[in-house]
Amino acid sequence: MQKTLRLGLAGLGTVGGGVLELLARHAGLVTARAGKTVEVTAVSARDKMKKRAHDISRLRWFDDSVALAKSDAIDVFVELMGGEGDPAKAAVEAALASAKPVVTANKALLAHHGAALARLAEAKGVALNFEASVAGGIPIIKTLREGLAGNRVGKLFGIMNGTCNYILTKMANEGRSFADVLKEAQALGYAEADPSFDVGGFDTAHKLAVLTSLAFGSEVDLASISIEGIEAITLADIGNASDMGYKIKLLGVAVAHAEGIEQRVHPTLVPKGSPVADTDGVFNAVVVKGDFAGDLMLEGRGAGAHPTASAVVADIVDIARGNWRPAFGVPAADLKPYRAAPTKAHEGGFYVALELHDRPGAVAAIARILADEKISIESIVQRGKQEKDAPRATAPFILITHDTLETAMRAALSRIETDGHVASRPRMIRIERL
Ligand code: NAP
Ligand code: HSE
Repeated sequence: MQKTLRLGLAGLGTVGGGVLELLARHAGLVTARAGKTVEVTAVSARDKMKKRAHDISRLRWFDDSVALAKSDAIDVFVELMGGEGDPAKAAVEAALASAKPVVTANKALLAHHGAALARLAEAKGVALNFEASVAGGIPIIKTLREGLAGNRVGKLFGIMNGTCNYILTKMANEGRSFADVLKEAQALGYAEADPSFDVGGFDTAHKLAVLTSLAFGSEVDLASISIEGIEAITLADIGNASDMGYKIKLLGVAVAHAEGIEQRVHPTLVPKGSPVADTDGVFNAVVVKGDFAGDLMLEGRGAGAHPTASAVVADIVDIARGNWRPAFGVPAADLKPYRAAPTKAHEGGFYVALELHDRPGAVAAIARILADEKISIESIVQRGKQEKDAPRATAPFILITHDTLETAMRAALSRIETDGHVASRPRMIRIERL
């Protein structure tokens, strides 16, 4: 048996650095568990001259990650550069085409090209492992692919982006601005190279697309996900939600309906005290509803060098042990074509924020429109008080509805917007009662 597994590492940033650190600190432990020594022997990144936290002077350097991926100097290619396109895509394809197992943390690549890459890996009989691509250090891929292999999954949802959860938590707990906390999340290595992927909900959508494929045995389908980010969430929304018994979280949700699959990503009010609401900071939580296992929730750090390196190295050890299974749980040829649920209206509660002209009849007019659309109100908060002798202006008017069809809610909001009683566009956030 070959005594050393030689790794080619493309990407030496937050995650690549974490992998070098883990393999150095836990060399003995990894050797014992892998059954052989595991060594990074060759590396690639953008800038050879960049000062790095880890000494790479004794490792073979490749300017071109595709050349590294194909090189006979390595046994496994580890892609930690990121991005849905080249060079990550070309390098992963080159490694698989030359029958080298691949480990990647790149959810954007998988969300766009997952099924094709799985087919290529299978054709060559090599592993395509991506535990680190979803929820950092949480072993959710293995859980879905192996631990829950005997279950039919009906629904999965959760907090899948550490950057957004960190931002929402710090805004809520410390009253800090969105922009200020985002900078901190970037400095901590949580954010994507382009943080609009995080805050715009796209990173969560990439991860949801991967989990949906694993959970429901369908081809990865990013295009059908409805995506809203957290950019419009204000400190006032967070405060109002809190007063009404909720926290705001960015959730990814996938549900298997008889007619097809529903996937959505959006900021969500979740009841305080629920396990998802209690998942704060960089932590992620993924809830899976299996028909035999019942509900289970996995919680842990969703981003950062150490948790992500932990997941990457788990995948490497799996390969060293000779474990192989289809990337998405069933042979790629057996993945069902993705079938989207018809655009059936989502049904649930809604948080609605209005900036109401502070004059008689305004609240009555809003209540009338909601009643016309058969929307029942659960609670209302109107803030703002008139300063002495100041002219009446506007006042925030917040309401929470009982469960209602989203189509009805949207119809009511478009009537409210043009009814002359609000000073700005109404905003709504969905509620999951959990
Ligand atoms: P990062 O800190 O920005 O590091 C990216 C690395 O890739 C750098 O070493 C960079 O080279 C190299 N690179 C980037 N573009 C390249 C190109 N065109 N050609 C060659 N090398 C290139 O990113 P990261 O946070 O480590 O993320 C890496 C991957 O892990 C991404 O897919 C990300 O989505 C995923 N991920 C990240 C986290 C996290 O917490 N950060 C968690 C889970 C998954 P230079 O160093 O020379 O600039
Ligand atoms: N930018 C991602 C996050 C990294 O914040 O969750 C982990 O995938």
